[in-house]
Amino acid sequence: MRTTQLDLFGADFTADPHPDLRRLRSDSPVHHDPATGLWLVSRYADVRAVLADPEAFHPDNALTAVTPIPRPVLRVLARAGFSLPPTLANNGTDTHTDLRRLVAGFLTPARVAGFEARIASLCEERLASPTDLHADLARDLPCVVLMEVLGITDVDVPALKAWSTASLELFWGNPSVERQHELAVQAGEFHQWLTRRIRAASPDGDDLFSALRQHGTPVREAAGLCYFLLIAGQETTTQLLSTLLDRVLRHPDLWARLAADEPGLAAACVEEVLRREPPVTTWRRVTSRPVTLAGVDLPAGAPLLLMLAGTGSDPEVFAEPESFCPGRSGARRHLAFGFGRHYCLGAGLARLEGEVVLRTVARRFPDLRLAAIEPPPMLGLLSFRAPLSVPSSAPRPSSRGRRQRTRTPRAARGGRSGRCR
Ligand code: HEM
Repeated sequence: MRTTQLDLFGADFTADPHPDLRRLRSDSPVHHDPATGLWLVSRYADVRAVLADPEAFHPDNALTAVTPIPRPVLRVLARAGFSLPPTLANNGTDTHTDLRRLVAGFLTPARVAGFEARIASLCEERLASPTDLHADLARDLPCVVLMEVLGITDVDVPALKAWSTASLELFWGNPSVERQHELAVQAGEFHQWLTRRIRAASPDGDDLFSALRQHGTPVREAAGLCYFLLIAGQETTTQLLSTLLDRVLRHPDLWARLAADEPGLAAACVEEVLRREPPVTTWRRVTSRPVTLAGVDLPAGAPLLLMLAGTGSDPEVFAEPESFCPGRSGARRHLAFGFGRHYCLGAGLARLEGEVVLRTVARRFPDLRLAAIEPPPMLGLLSFRAPLSVPSSAPRPSSRGRRQRTRTPRAARGGRSGRCR
């Protein structure tokens, strides 16, 4: 393994992590990265085993800043009353079950399904003449949807997006100390806004803030939970939508089949992007006791970086993993949403948003093309990767808004599961 060349924040790794992920899986499946101090775990079976064993592998470090925050910046956070006690993703204690149940109540399959028409209409509203599908559509839509799902009103969406992107960079980026200072101010403002809203919540409201109050969750825990949820519940889906639109638009034949409403194809494309290029590329755990993983002895307290993006391309699990193959068998075995006790609570909502947005854009603009073929600028954080722009050519919308359903000949579809690319 080219240990010296592996740079988890480098431009090459961000542009295409797959060559390094392949080398890690084959040469050094549990690999110590001296730059971050993390142990990189890259094979599907090992990552799944770690996620399935919450006793040996704790989630406590899930939200720890990968670039240590120096004391003066910590003081900025402390002055804002900022703290992230164990609540959901970073909670290995008994309080996790109750808090998870409370949030799950807002994300039941029935409640999520009830948002399908609303997602389509929000998408239509943003499609007057799209020039960049990231800025026009992917950036804000998931935030608007999440607030409605959680019953939260009076939200300044641009402010919330600025706070949440700053928070991602502070905790998962590699910023300079000056930059950390700016980001900490933003993270602190976000936390203070949440604390105010939780304190002001109506005791009999049906929104998330009220539910936390009714549950008796202390304000500090409630603010920490909301801080994570309001970021995780929309930034990840923004990233999914941008990657999805960019990747599928690179295959005009696939786009034509989506525009023709081929049943199940949009959902299959979402799954294939989650497998091969998941928005959450890595997630962390820490060993609670000495363990041996893939033949490597790890002490208690060893911080692990689970390479989720690499697991979806493990040839032991997925045949021809480099091919983009919507409808492949076993497609949903990927670990893009984690596994086990902390499995993503928003998986259903994220999948629905991806499917509805892809279908709606393709129907409305059957001739849409990427305006630039070269690789887009990418967000490249420790755990998040996605295009930061998806420039599209200005097409004429389909006259009826929805294209008439046409049968694509079976031969052109490449059989039942479609052709791999
Ligand atoms: C494509 C979009 C998304 C991806 C790729 C994603 C991925 C993940 C991953 C990898 C985890 C950690 C799982 C583990 O530790 O085993 C997680 C946890 C979580 N996600 Fe998501 N997520 C997405 C969207 C969402 C949305 C839309 C919501 C909420 C509406 C959400 C809420 C959560 C919560 C609450 C947890 C913590 C669950 C717990 O600890 O019990 N996520 N997600």
